[in-house]
Amino acid sequence: MSEPIVTTLDRDAVRILTVNRPDKLNALNRQTLETLDQAFAAAATDAAVRVVVLTGAGAKAFVAGADIAEMNRLTPPQGRDFSLLGQRLMQRIERLPKPVVAMVNGYALGGGLELAMACHLRVAAESARLGQPEINLGLIPGFGGTQRLLRLAGRAAALELCLLGSPVTAARAFELGIVNRVVADAELEAQTLQIAEQLARSAPLALRGVLDAVLAGGECALEQGLEFETAQFGLLFATEDMREGTGAFLERRKPRFANR
Ligand code: CAA
Repeated sequence: MSEPIVTTLDRDAVRILTVNRPDKLNALNRQTLETLDQAFAAAATDAAVRVVVLTGAGAKAFVAGADIAEMNRLTPPQGRDFSLLGQRLMQRIERLPKPVVAMVNGYALGGGLELAMACHLRVAAESARLGQPEINLGLIPGFGGTQRLLRLAGRAAALELCLLGSPVTAARAFELGIVNRVVADAELEAQTLQIAEQLARSAPLALRGVLDAVLAGGECALEQGLEFETAQFGLLFATEDMREGTGAFLERRKPRFANR
């Protein structure tokens, strides 16, 4: 039997999804995009999963981009469809009602950086290289890179990475605000899982409130964003977890959140 193109491993409430095409540096062809989409849809509805960690198989790459061999043959309508397929996956990840952490273990280029940017947090190994090299192929980013890089790191960084196409080090990506943490290569898995486990212990409905409010706020005026925050804040007073969290503080004990 052939190896699955995306592997799934559950460590208690943390689901680890691994893009598994190491011989092609985990490049995203149609099949990989579709399989990832299904994997994230399943993670979204599985109540046992509270956090998703996304990574790439092998020591070399998170994901080295969209599959260039597959793209080379596409017609304009097929190119457009391919972009839409990738963008839909990125939207699904970004809108997942639970946190997604990218564990960037090597090259995160083109569609690979776009995939990492769709995740809610990014932890990168020191040796990782990140970039939008599409310009070198006569292309532009097609899975949301021009838009997410702009929103994440600002216009100067978005234009620099997309116009010059040169990858940056993990340390530079941290300076630019593209990744949240840079850790020693040997520490990548342990440190990412530590973050994921912390998230898994948090109140899921409150985590969702943060994701919804921050993502919505990025797309609207301050006034609307504040209204949205207030609505989310008020709703959380209907949850058992809010009573548990505040109650545990007052009783000087650790809370146990039940996702209710
Ligand atoms: N698509 C298809 N195959 C790829 C790939 C990609 N994006 N990246 C690497 N591979 C394949 C190589 O073709 C090679 O396959 P074979 O062994 O069968 O020849 C294998 O993975 C190993 O790669 P290299 O031999 O090139 O490894 P290297 O260590 O010499 O170089 C690298 C590593 C610098 C990352 C180089 O592979 C590279 O530049 N890859 C392409 C990066 C890129 O341009 N990404 C953007 C793609 S376009 C895109 O993503 C558009 C979008 O936004 C939607």
